[in-house]
Amino acid sequence: MNFKKLTDLDVSAKRVFIRADLNVPQDEHGAITDDTRIRAALPGIRYALAGGAAVMVTSHLGRPTEGELKAEDSLAPIAARLAELLGRPVPLVQNWVDGVTVTPGDLVLLENCRANKGEKKNDDALAQKLARLCDIWVHDAFGTAHRAEATTYGMGKYAPVACAGPCLAAELEALTLALAKPAHPLVAIVAGSKVSTKLTVLESLADKVDQLIVGGGIANTFLLAAGKKIGKSLAEPDLVEAARRVMQKVKVPLPAEVVCAKEFSATAVATVKSVDDVTDDDMILDIGPLAAQELSKIVAQAGTIVWNGPVGVFEIEQFSGGTKTLAHAIADSKAFSLAGGGDTIAAINKFGTKVSYISTAGGAFLEFLEGKKLPAVEILEQRANK
Ligand code: 3PG
Repeated sequence: MNFKKLTDLDVSAKRVFIRADLNVPQDEHGAITDDTRIRAALPGIRYALAGGAAVMVTSHLGRPTEGELKAEDSLAPIAARLAELLGRPVPLVQNWVDGVTVTPGDLVLLENCRANKGEKKNDDALAQKLARLCDIWVHDAFGTAHRAEATTYGMGKYAPVACAGPCLAAELEALTLALAKPAHPLVAIVAGSKVSTKLTVLESLADKVDQLIVGGGIANTFLLAAGKKIGKSLAEPDLVEAARRVMQKVKVPLPAEVVCAKEFSATAVATVKSVDDVTDDDMILDIGPLAAQELSKIVAQAGTIVWNGPVGVFEIEQFSGGTKTLAHAIADSKAFSLAGGGDTIAAINKFGTKVSYISTAGGAFLEFLEGKKLPAVEILEQRANK
């Protein structure tokens, strides 16, 4: 990968536009529940400020309807957190598409860029207009590196200079290094609610990994493919054939023991049972302790572990055992371990798991694992020498 990096550039008195990924989880009152992504954006912002640039930062937050900024879409809580972390005021600018006033040495946060009409479809006229706001466009949003939108791609075509910020560059370097020549056995844990969102990842990983551990709703679809009964559990029966294809390519150990409940709730009674004893009114909400031990043995022997997605409903105590056991096994293993995705990071934080590398990305992390060329990389490479 060959691209310009912000940290190699002289930014003095330049108008620097940083596209960060500040799409952080929030509770029902809008309070930020995990600020990892805001912290990951700090090195790029600090470099530009220290170099004497006039700094504009923007990000998307959620998936707002373009042209309609609702209160919950606002970056206001992020401006406040950024101000705390930087120890300086961070003014939040609304309606910034037609022009931004910011002086060298100062920083402004530009309101949710996905509320601008044309952002998601990478409207060319919007991209050209936005590019005129800056001398240097910085892509520092690894979490959004798989999207070709106006601020993550189009601006890169037209800005006088296009470069990678430190977060994006570090993520690409770390993931490339870890996956170029991974130590074997290479074990991937791909879990979560739906096969459909991760199907292409599963199919391409099946060609690359030595063992594929599936969990959550994904494992239920694989259990169906293996002829097991799963009761009322979350699954995608129309993807059973796809699951079979994956199992023909790579070893997919399925849980012999599961944790079931009759309802999905924090007060549900959890019952550990053999996968062969699942009844029609059961919901599988976690893997059982014996199954977790079996998977832990696989993890213990791995040379490289890639982890995306919890194997059970870890947010509810009685269904958290499988994810916890696996998290501890990852922490105890000598393997190089890579983890990414919002739920995975939440599980890591909950169980205090040590992993070798945590990516700020979810979807982009998976597309990188699939071996797809990310739009961020494509545009930055195009602009490497011009
Ligand atoms: C993420 O949370 O994975 C990124 O911020 C990308 O968000 P998106 O899936 O809404 O593009």
